[in-house]
Amino acid sequence: QRNEYKAQYNILDAAASYYQQQLKTHQHRDQAVSYLKSRGLTGKIAHIFGIGYAPPGWDNLLKVLGTTPQEQQLLETSGMLIRHEEKDSLYDRFRERIMFPIRDMRGRVIAFGGRVLGDDKPKYLNSPETDTFHKSRELYGLYEARKLSAKLERIIIVEGYMDVISLAQFGITYAVATLGTATTAQHLERLFKTVPEIIFCFDGDNAGRKAAERALEAALPIIKDGLQARFLFLPEGEDPDTLIRQESKEGFEKRLNEAPQLSDFFFRSLSEEVDMTSMDGRARFSNQALPLIQQMKTSLLQQMMLEKICEVTGLTLEQINSTINLAQSTPS
Ligand code: CTP
Ligand code: MN
Ligand code: MN
Ligand code: MN
Ligand code: MN
Repeated sequence: QRNEYKAQYNILDAAASYYQQQLKTHQHRDQAVSYLKSRGLTGKIAHIFGIGYAPPGWDNLLKVLGTTPQEQQLLETSGMLIRHEEKDSLYDRFRERIMFPIRDMRGRVIAFGGRVLGDDKPKYLNSPETDTFHKSRELYGLYEARKLSAKLERIIIVEGYMDVISLAQFGITYAVATLGTATTAQHLERLFKTVPEIIFCFDGDNAGRKAAERALEAALPIIKDGLQARFLFLPEGEDPDTLIRQESKEGFEKRLNEAPQLSDFFFRSLSEEVDMTSMDGRARFSNQALPLIQQMKTSLLQQMMLEKICEVTGLTLEQINSTINLAQSTPS
């Protein structure tokens, strides 16, 4: 229907095929194949996710797909070519990288992530925002998850491409990743249209724990009775990719099934920051918790969380309600 972008989708699809082809035929393909093998990926899973190889060089894609000015223009607007302003020339954005095509819900390629084969920086390079690629909306692996699972009952949100792919290889075919951005309300709204339960599972490091707190804040205004958000925290230094290789499907699913509920994580993370044995600490706790609970949709869960605050602070529901009302009527 959206004919204006048809050519753009076509050329991105051709780019994905080109990179996949290079993984099979390029003279340096061995490097890429042994890298993927060293990460434990099977050929089958690489095929399912359409993994490819951007060979070394500044104009491989340009030469193959950009043979006319129109094609060059399309490759530039879709983020595959970069314009060198001084020389007024174009060159390939992705060079000597493992390529992960990012598909939309309908399976169309809309962007790429590219990983270096070693430890160089930046480790990952993604397509820029374009008319057809909005990072705050798209989720890597959602199309594949829907295709691989008979019926999706829950979805895991992880950090990276390799996490999604490794989990799928080991039989957990329902993980998706945000694309180098924080989890947004749009991501969550989209996922909750598909499943009633989301499990956040970020890396076991400081960045991962920060991501979980931000995800909690994004989830609070969206959650309602009948929807569930849970938070799985991994051992220090692990990510889903490293852990599933140690624990297999069963071990990892056991963790998923035992992951704390949103309300557990909420109270745990807020009470960790204050001294709950002191009155001042409990007041600070309430001051931080109430505005967040206030953002929630009216629900039994919201009511129960307010009651929990009463329980741990000794405040009455009336006192809390008057605080909330006061906060609402005070301009900030
Ligand atoms: N990411 C990114 N740009 C970076 C680093 C990371 O966009 N410079 C995104 C990528 O989508 C990546 C995800 O964040 O897949 C997770 O990053 P990180 O945890 O640092 O990746 P690693 O687990 O270290 O990557 P790998 O397992 O491939 O070594
Ligand atoms: Mn890292
Ligand atoms: Mn990380
Ligand atoms: Mn990793
Ligand atoms: Mn990681």
